[in-house]
Amino acid sequence: MNIEQLEERLTKAFGQVGLEGPVAPSGAAIRIHGVDLSPPLRRDQAACLLDALAWFRIVSLPGQDLNERSLPHLERFANHFGAPVPHPSNFIRAGKPGQQDGATDGEIEIRPVEQRMAARVNAAFPGELMCLKHESPAVLVVSNVQTNPETPGRFSEKPPTVISGGTWHTDIEYEPIPLQVSMFLVHQMPVVKDNDAHWISLPDDDVAKTRYYEGSSEELMRKRIAMPVDGETAFVDTVAAWEALPDSEQKRLKKMQVRRRLNTGDRGWLAPIVRTHPRSGLTGLHSPIWASRPRVRPPVVVEGMTEAASQSVLDEVEAHVLSPEFRYDHFHTPGDVTIWDNTLTLHNSPPMKTRIRSVDDARLLYRISCKGPDREKLPRDDDPDWLTEHVSAVYSTPDEILSAR
Ligand SMILES: [Fe+2]
Repeated sequence: MNIEQLEERLTKAFGQVGLEGPVAPSGAAIRIHGVDLSPPLRRDQAACLLDALAWFRIVSLPGQDLNERSLPHLERFANHFGAPVPHPSNFIRAGKPGQQDGATDGEIEIRPVEQRMAARVNAAFPGELMCLKHESPAVLVVSNVQTNPETPGRFSEKPPTVISGGTWHTDIEYEPIPLQVSMFLVHQMPVVKDNDAHWISLPDDDVAKTRYYEGSSEELMRKRIAMPVDGETAFVDTVAAWEALPDSEQKRLKKMQVRRRLNTGDRGWLAPIVRTHPRSGLTGLHSPIWASRPRVRPPVVVEGMTEAASQSVLDEVEAHVLSPEFRYDHFHTPGDVTIWDNTLTLHNSPPMKTRIRSVDDARLLYRISCKGPDREKLPRDDDPDWLTEHVSAVYSTPDEILSAR
C-alpha cells in the first residue's frame, strides 16, 4: 500500500485527516492528524490503522486528550494490535522483581500503583506534574522523573546529570512469543527554549560504551552510541535494512535460527530473525542483536555456532541495520500516541537528564505493549490456554476499560 492509497482509506474511514510522511528517510514512519482515539473504533477504522502500521512500521497519532480517561482509552485501542501484557516492572514474581528474574513459574503478584514508578513521578513535582490516572498493570510509566515517595518535592543533593541511552532492542524479545506492537502516549517532554540549543550534550563515549559487552568493532560501537539529544526515541527500520541486503545474505539470514533463553543455563527455544508481517507481507529483521540486554538476559546463540561466532555474525548484521540510512529519531510531542511494530523495527531510549530539578526537564510517557494476533473487532477472543501460557498473570483488559467513555 502506498501513501496515496492509505490517505484514501483513512479519509473514507475517519473523514478529513492530515497525513504526514513517510518522515523517515528509509520510507517508514507516518503522522496521521485528526484521529481521536477516545471513542471506540469501528471495524473499518481499526483495519485501516492496523494496515497503516503494517506498511509504515511507525505510526504517530498526535493531538490526543490527556485526562483521567486517556489511559483506559489507550488500552482499549491497544487491544486491536494484540493482547495487552502486564509489564514486568509492574509485578513481583515469586517474591522478586519481574524484570530482573527470568524464572517463569513463580506466582505473580501485581504491584499496587503506590509501589510503581507512577508514585515516584508524582512525588517529584507534586501538583505540577502528576501521572494520568491508571491502575492497569499493562501501563508502563517511562520517565526520567523520580523522587522517593516518602519525601515528596525533595531533590537529590547530587547535581543533575546526563545518563547514556539504552541498548538497541525490541521489546521483550526474550519470550517465546515476543511483543508484536508497543505504543507510547506522550504526557510531557523536555522544553528546549533556545532554538539553537539541545536538551542535552551526549555523555562521554567511554561511559556510553559500558552499556555493551566488549569485543565489538569500533565502527559498530560508534553507530550504537550515536543517539539523539532532545529526548527522541531512536528507531531502526529493519524492513529497509532487509531490502538493502544482497540475495545471498538474505538467503543466509532466512535459514538462521537463534536460541533465546530467559536465563543462562536454560535450554531456551529457537526463533527466526527474519519475519514477514501477516498484513503487509513486508519482511523485517526481528531483534538481530547478539546481546540486546547485556547483563540482564543472556546473549543469543546462533544454532550451530559457538558463542564467539554468534557474536561476530550478529555484530555484522547489527552494524548493517544501524547504518544512518535506516535510522530515524522520532520526536515526541505531548498528546501524541506513537505505535511501532517490533518485528519491523528496532529502537533505543535516548540519553537523558536525570536528578532533574525543573519540570521543564521532565520526560513522561506511558507505554502499552501487546502480543499475538491483531483484532479489527473488540472484545478480543483470545484462547484462555494461550493467555495462560503467554501472558503474565493471565491478564486481559477488564470490561470497565473496554467500555470506558
Ligand atoms: Fe523498548
